[in-house]
Amino acid sequence: MTLDPEQAKKLVGEKAAEFVKDGMIVGLGTGSTAYYTINKLGEMVANGLNIKAIPTSKASEEQAIKVGIPLVTLDTHTVIDITIDGADEIDPDLNLIKGLGGALLREKIVACVSKQEIIIADERKIVKKLGTRSPLPVEIVPFGLEVCLSKLKPLCKDLALRMRDSEPFITDNGNYILDLSFGENGIENAVELEAILNNIPGVVENGLFIGLATSAIVESEGELKILKRPN
Ligand code: A5P
Repeated sequence: MTLDPEQAKKLVGEKAAEFVKDGMIVGLGTGSTAYYTINKLGEMVANGLNIKAIPTSKASEEQAIKVGIPLVTLDTHTVIDITIDGADEIDPDLNLIKGLGGALLREKIVACVSKQEIIIADERKIVKKLGTRSPLPVEIVPFGLEVCLSKLKPLCKDLALRMRDSEPFITDNGNYILDLSFGENGIENAVELEAILNNIPGVVENGLFIGLATSAIVESEGELKILKRPN
């Protein structure tokens, strides 16, 4: 049975909420799939679930407040029990590209202190090699735009400043995003690329999530598969 994209997002988003237990500190992802998890958690809280959550974006924060999920911050809670978040690409080792929604910086900070990082997606997000389906978002400081453009250009096939309503898109942290495309061959060595990117002055963070996801819940033909990161 083939589900339409919204049904698939709801299915994986709500399934992931089942992994959240009483007393947990929960990272709330960002995007149209995590939206369903946040709504479900709101319902569960209304029915007595006791959790505290840390959102990865202003949008998720607003949604969480609306559905009644109690919030805390990384200032008071530096370890997160479980984070549930979407992704733009998932490779066979559960390495990811994230950030098409623009929340990659906070998502990565939250992921790196999460004991469990559960990724929710439909099967179309699964790729053999990162960079073959989605561009790689790189968050940069606006002051360094031209420098970053010239340093990043040789590292990819093409790149573009993300725009919204004819203006540069501004992240929750007041930065710009450059979307790097790699063509059909994708990213040759994601680990190396991540290190190179993070060494460029002006680059704040990039959308490569290497070794951060612990599992993924993926929808395929109406069925759910749980993928674990290989050891
Ligand atoms: C947000 O910045 C992204 O990392 C999202 O998690 C990712 O783009 C997946 O979003 P969807 O669930 O909307 O596809």
